[in-house]
Amino acid sequence: MIILGIESSCDETAAAIYADRKNLSNIIASQAVHEQFGGVVPELASRAHHKTISKTVAQALEEASVSVDDLDGIAVSQGPGLMGSLLVGLSFAKGLALSRKIPIIGVNHIDAHMYANFIEHDEVYPFVALIVSGGHTRLVYVEEAFQHEVLGKTRDDAAGEAFDKIGKILDLPYPAGPVVDKLSQKGDPKFHQFPRAMINKGLDFSFSGLKTSALYYTQELESSFLKKHLHDICASVSDAITDVLTVKLKQAVKLKNVNHVMLAGGVSANSMLRIKVESMARELGLNLMIPAMQYCTDNAAMIAITGAMKARQHLYDDLDLKPFARIE
Ligand code: KG4
Ligand code: ZN
Repeated sequence: MIILGIESSCDETAAAIYADRKNLSNIIASQAVHEQFGGVVPELASRAHHKTISKTVAQALEEASVSVDDLDGIAVSQGPGLMGSLLVGLSFAKGLALSRKIPIIGVNHIDAHMYANFIEHDEVYPFVALIVSGGHTRLVYVEEAFQHEVLGKTRDDAAGEAFDKIGKILDLPYPAGPVVDKLSQKGDPKFHQFPRAMINKGLDFSFSGLKTSALYYTQELESSFLKKHLHDICASVSDAITDVLTVKLKQAVKLKNVNHVMLAGGVSANSMLRIKVESMARELGLNLMIPAMQYCTDNAAMIAITGAMKARQHLYDDLDLKPFARIE
């Protein structure tokens, strides 16, 4: 089965080909236009998707040595995400599907982050997943493919959003997550004790207090001190975020008594989180799955593999498939 995946939910225009349990190409066109604004500007994102989508899909087909007529399905990111951005991917997918009579498969972007793990790991169930991205933070129990139980989610900011917003307070470029991660590696995580909100209170998360705490803390500091200890402050922020994520993941694993556990989403690229979760998995004797770096942040290979999994279950969609901005 040969599936084309298309991803355009935020600021990456991406296309990939997944065939016979292998990822054959994974093209990502990132939109540099947002850097100067310190965040994604929705209107500019839609325009950039529109400009690059044909080229990106053509490149994915070419790199995989696959022609449009070979495709058994077109999987497209349906949401959550920016409406204007999603519409570009969906319209393109529908046009191609209609003109070449290829079935279309709408894919939930958050599910796809999770199933990205199965590009390189064996497909096993049941598992608990910690999905941590720029827009979402949630703990999910998955009994079988597409049978999800949400165990906990953020009540305010997502983990990636916390990294990005605190990075902005520290004058770091957008998206700040990877920069904070890099700086943290040379810093002292015990330099300052930032709050770990709700750490022993259920499986929901809250990161907005941490952001406020970082704002107040840095406002009181001399700029020379802040500059000198930037690594230490970043490490302390990363320590607080990853402590909460790891503790709650461990609680969820124990609650559901699973042997398989996974990280998913952009923040699963975070080095401190990986170290803490790896140690937790060793301690509990768990099979831990973490996507390779190129499948952590937004990509289309994750859309394509999820599309292939849905196609196997004959979960196709009609051409009136609609985008959605949010999930509950
Ligand atoms: O999954 P993703 O690419 O997009 C969404 O679906 O939101 O996640 C992007 C998020 C951003 O907030 C980015 O700062 C964060 O993932 N991120 C990281 C790292 N790499 C990406 N956060 C912390 N450490 C990293 N190494
Ligand atoms: Zn994402």
